[in-house]
Amino acid sequence: MDRLDLTVNGQKRQMATDAAHTTALDWLRGNGLTGCKEGCAEGECGACAVLVAQSDGTGGTTWTAVNACLVPIAALDGQEIVTAEGLGSPESLHPVQEKMAVAGGSQCGYCTPGFVCSMASEFYRRDRRADVEGAPHAQHGPNEHDPNEPDPHEHGPNGFDLHSLSGNLCRCTGYRPIRDAAYALGDPDADDALATRRDQPAPEPARTDLQAADGRFVRPATLADTVAMLAEYPTAVLVAGSTDWGVEVNIRGRREPLVIAIDRLPELRALEFGDEFVEIGAAVSLSEVERFLAGRVPMLAELIPQFASRLIRNRATLGGNLGTGSPIGDAAPALLALGARVILASAEGDREVELSEYFTGYRTSVRTPGELIRAIRIPLPLADLTGFHKIAKRRFDDISSVAVGFALDIQGGVVHDARIGLGGVAATPLRASSTEALLIGRPWNAQTAREAAASLGGEGTPMSDHRASAEYRSIMMSQAMLKLFARPTAQSTAQMGVGA
Ligand SMILES: Cc1cc2nc3c(=O)[nH]c(=O)nc-3n(C[C@H](O)[C@H](O)[C@H](O)COP(=O)(O)OP(=O)(O)OC[C@H]3O[C@@H](n4cnc5c(N)ncnc54)[C@H](O)[C@@H]3O)c2cc1C
Ligand code: FES
Ligand code: FES
Repeated sequence: MDRLDLTVNGQKRQMATDAAHTTALDWLRGNGLTGCKEGCAEGECGACAVLVAQSDGTGGTTWTAVNACLVPIAALDGQEIVTAEGLGSPESLHPVQEKMAVAGGSQCGYCTPGFVCSMASEFYRRDRRADVEGAPHAQHGPNEHDPNEPDPHEHGPNGFDLHSLSGNLCRCTGYRPIRDAAYALGDPDADDALATRRDQPAPEPARTDLQAADGRFVRPATLADTVAMLAEYPTAVLVAGSTDWGVEVNIRGRREPLVIAIDRLPELRALEFGDEFVEIGAAVSLSEVERFLAGRVPMLAELIPQFASRLIRNRATLGGNLGTGSPIGDAAPALLALGARVILASAEGDREVELSEYFTGYRTSVRTPGELIRAIRIPLPLADLTGFHKIAKRRFDDISSVAVGFALDIQGGVVHDARIGLGGVAATPLRASSTEALLIGRPWNAQTAREAAASLGGEGTPMSDHRASAEYRSIMMSQAMLKLFARPTAQSTAQMGVGA
């Protein structure tokens, strides 16, 4: 097969393509849709944002904004895409385009189509109005957040979540006019085509097998087909959300003979909140995980808003985050603290591995070439006190220098169990086993927290690099412990002398 079938801006297109690694951005621009721009080609600026019709999980469609620079066009075979050109025209502006123009939200205009697509995604979010201040968070979980930190969900009077624009950068306008435009948006008209489209199902995944000069891109229909293929071609590259893979292709020039798409495999898209564990399919996007959990796993409710930007989270998966084996991935420290297990699938069947035993070295793991991550299981009940601390140069949309996940069971004022996950302080994510041992059986008071903080600062083997020095990383681990202790009550804050 050398042809892709897509619906772009409402029109069906059958497009010949000769490249298995061509990004959606290059393909769209090559076909005349030059509204979407390339600013960075690595998911940082949002100039390339477009809308993709995705399932809302209840039989309808949600217009999801994604970075077209990271997604291979082959991964969108059979899907529906809307670009800024498809939203409106100079003669008939879309409400989002009109508000941007009126508010003065565009100067050179380079970033504008991307902003408009991210904004349109939020404009069409069904539960947007439920998110006005004081109303329950239909999408994002509880409203509570650490009062010492900026709120990761800042809503306008129309419920618009400003952080839906967190993946879009503008170098000339300044962000206030853009925010004014977002907060001035009303609701879609009754005859708005994209609003009406939400009531219909999103397209099913296509069975793609694109043989091109630079490689082959395959989307198998089932997990059985996928693992059979992996058994035959163990060096094939798996791609889920493509937020890491897209960077490899664009910036590092990676080309592989065989790429296997797993992001739509039903077996990797499970979401279950059972009695004994929470199961999260490896290919569920972080935005979907956040919506599904709605704050029921507080550690993840803290983590997800700090993970990249909304554009990235709309595609990034937990399977991909663990699949890279990166020592600075954000999911591992949180999942280690939650005592998570990884379900690995292969042609031989499933096996379950403790995440604490999963990583074996720098970007290596116990996963064999014929295996993929099918799901992540978080045992229940959850610990009483959890916390996720990401230390980065920017509060949002940045890679961690250090990340710490805490899960403490405190009964009658005594620490009964403690799990601490660390990222960014060794060649692998790891558990802070000495500090955990120190905590268990001790009263949860200022003295214990101080001793644990000192111990935590000595965990791992932090290095100095362009993000942070080794000393800074150690100090930040200690601080994270003190912040955890300071968090629950004002009394403990005073006891510690924090902020004095
Ligand atoms: C701008 C930007 C910001 C980012 N910010 C953050 C951040 O704040 N924190 C953070 O941790 N990461 C961040 N990342 C990295 C990336 O988004 C995450 O690692 C993400 O979770 C990857 O998921 P994915 O589905 O997109 O993976 P993909 O790109 O599809 O795959 C990544 C790797 O994992 C493998 N893989 C994917 N799924 C599986 C599976 N089920 N089983 C086995 N292997 C698999 C693939 O073969 C590939 O090698 C950022 C990336 C970008 C571009
Ligand atoms: S071009 Fe910058 S995010 Fe895609
Ligand atoms: S208007 Fe110029 S970059 Fe945003």
